Amino acid sequence: MRQTFTFYTAGQLLFGRDAVTQLGEIVARFGGKRVLIVTDKILVHAGIVARVREAMPGLSIDVFDGGEPEPTIDMVLRCVENARTLKPDVVIGVGGGSNMDAAKLAAIAISHGGDPRDYVGENHVPGPVLPLICLPTTSGTGSEVTPAAVFTDTAKKIKVSVLSNFLRPAAAIVDPMLTLTCPPKVTADSGIDALTHAIEAFTAIDNADFPLPANERSVYQGKNLIADMMAEQAIKRVAGFLPRAVRDGKDVEAREEMSLAATLAGLAFSNAGVALVHAMEYPVAAAVHVSHGAGNGLLLPFVMRYNLSAKVPAFAQVAEWLGVERQGRDDAAMADQAIVAVEQLKALIGIPARLRDLGVNKDDLPTFAEKAFSLKRLMRVNPRYPSAADIGQIYRDAW
Ligand SMILES: NC(=O)c1ccc[n+]([C@@H]2O[C@H](COP(=O)([O-])OP(=O)(O)OC[C@H]3O[C@@H](n4cnc5c(N)ncnc54)[C@H](O)[C@@H]3O)[C@@H](O)[C@H]2O)c1
Ligand SMILES: [Zn+2]
Repeated sequence: MRQTFTFYTAGQLLFGRDAVTQLGEIVARFGGKRVLIVTDKILVHAGIVARVREAMPGLSIDVFDGGEPEPTIDMVLRCVENARTLKPDVVIGVGGGSNMDAAKLAAIAISHGGDPRDYVGENHVPGPVLPLICLPTTSGTGSEVTPAAVFTDTAKKIKVSVLSNFLRPAAAIVDPMLTLTCPPKVTADSGIDALTHAIEAFTAIDNADFPLPANERSVYQGKNLIADMMAEQAIKRVAGFLPRAVRDGKDVEAREEMSLAATLAGLAFSNAGVALVHAMEYPVAAAVHVSHGAGNGLLLPFVMRYNLSAKVPAFAQVAEWLGVERQGRDDAAMADQAIVAVEQLKALIGIPARLRDLGVNKDDLPTFAEKAFSLKRLMRVNPRYPSAADIGQIYRDAW
């Protein structure tokens, strides 16, 4: 087997209906007296921020509600400035990946100063950050347990990521009741993001073969046994419950299963890694208006097609978990069915099929390919190491 890996998670993970009510206890355990909630106006209007506040009686609470979907550097800087002025001792991210990531960047700024752009890349955060608690209101990114904080560097026209295990939240409170108001489109997009995380983690290069120079540490470590178990459970749940959650947001059972799926997928990918789908989504999202999840969902089957030959048994396994029956098929035929199943799921929940539908200009594809190829930390997780030309071809197929 020859696997050697470390498995990281949030310091504490609370899961379940109305888990938010335990927030006050957790803040108290961290010695928090003055907390900053990082969120957005939609979640204030949905009454979610009120529930978070009610769970912390007697504390001094400030709210930054300037969060925006797919945060830009300008938005992040406003959040960071706010945090520096207020000097909280605990930061609480309430929202989807966008607000949770902004909360992480605020926590870095309070603990280590500087500008969020100083920490972009892997392992550039110099030490622990102040206690960070994340409460997801979408079922998708897994940011509540991951070491990543993503934003768009508008000047460089690329999404960038700060990646450090110091950014794993001290506590993740995953309460499916906070997701009931999540609109169908956000539910679909974030749900297929979770599926992408689980599939990329499960079909990643094996931990034993991970191409890392001896003196280098990487947050992503390749496919390993613990991540595999979590990816399996996530894929089965997305297949079984995402269409239901999109159809009826108040379907509590579907919401609960999707909450679990997203957190499990977050645990899987944030140790094993995400790969070519995510690398290819970054330049697309910086160029046109598309959510991270929809961009990933669009690209997922095209990248699966490229990766298929390197991981036939793994993709055959994914097909089974997506609900495809064997019916005498061999692994190669089953692996093919994994792509069909993802395409069907996409169509069912309304994920765009083609890059041209998003307004992507065909002439930009070579530049996209160069940008994606430059993301070495993602390339080396992929089961086939692509060339920039390979990536260009996948973009053209998806166009
Ligand atoms: N840190 C990580 O590990 C990680 C992983 C994947 C993606 N991301 C990043 O996360 C971001 C995407 O996050 P997301 O998909 O969770 O969506 P999001 O955070 O961008 O939210 C999308 C919209 O949905 C609204 N919304 C969220 N929950 C709601 C609820 N319960 N009720 C009503 N409205 C609600 C928000 O207010 C927002 O307007 C991207 O920037 C992406 O790059 C981060
Ligand atoms: Zn993602």
